[in-house]
Amino acid sequence: MTERSIQIAIDGPAGAGKSTVAKQLSERLGILYLDTGAMYRAFAFFCLKNGLGTSPADEQILDAFEHFDLVFEGKTILLNGEDITSVIRTPEIDRAVSPISANPLIREKMVEKQKAVASGRDIVMEGRDICDVVMPDAPYKFYLDASVEERARRRWQQNTDKGIESSLEDIKQDIVRRDEYDSTREATPLAVSRDAVLVDTTGMSLEEVIGLIISKVGEGSI
Ligand code: DC
Repeated sequence: MTERSIQIAIDGPAGAGKSTVAKQLSERLGILYLDTGAMYRAFAFFCLKNGLGTSPADEQILDAFEHFDLVFEGKTILLNGEDITSVIRTPEIDRAVSPISANPLIREKMVEKQKAVASGRDIVMEGRDICDVVMPDAPYKFYLDASVEERARRRWQQNTDKGIESSLEDIKQDIVRRDEYDSTREATPLAVSRDAVLVDTTGMSLEEVIGLIISKVGEGSI
């Protein structure tokens, strides 16, 4: 009998803790981690930097992908050799990435890249369309959710820990705006996959969420 590959797909709305959970899982299980949101953020950054705006034409998109060399090096994200790790997390990119990630051609090109990375590898990948589109055959699929209040509070705490001052109310409004955008767009809107385990992390600690996922992976079946 062949061993089952460890391919873990995680979807969910903004601020549900997907990145933290996925990063920790990859470290504990010793497998690759791919943050697909960072890929869309990097492309949004590329478009703004090169004067393409947030609704580039198809030819501009195809040309941009010819010059879009994105590398994940540990915790550092390099775009054409430039360290963009922090600049893709600014409010400007938060706003620009919604229309960029709603563009069907950009999604098609990103999904192509993500499928290539996942092919034949043990990996944990997180985003919005991983369970149904990018890794439909992954044996382990999760949808992480939490109340808007909890997600806003966690973001605020993360900012505070990094010494960044922010308003809880502004963060909450941004989360509501992004939820609305991500779940009502025409191209693969955010939705709970039929074969994903829904985990409401409201009131759960990071350790509890990780423990639950690892126990499911250990059971070998979902
Ligand atoms: O997870 P995040 O906040 O870094 O994602 C940034 C944006 O990209 C967000 O608006 C949702 C979108 N996204 C997407 O449409 N599909 C993915 N697989 C990942 C992110």
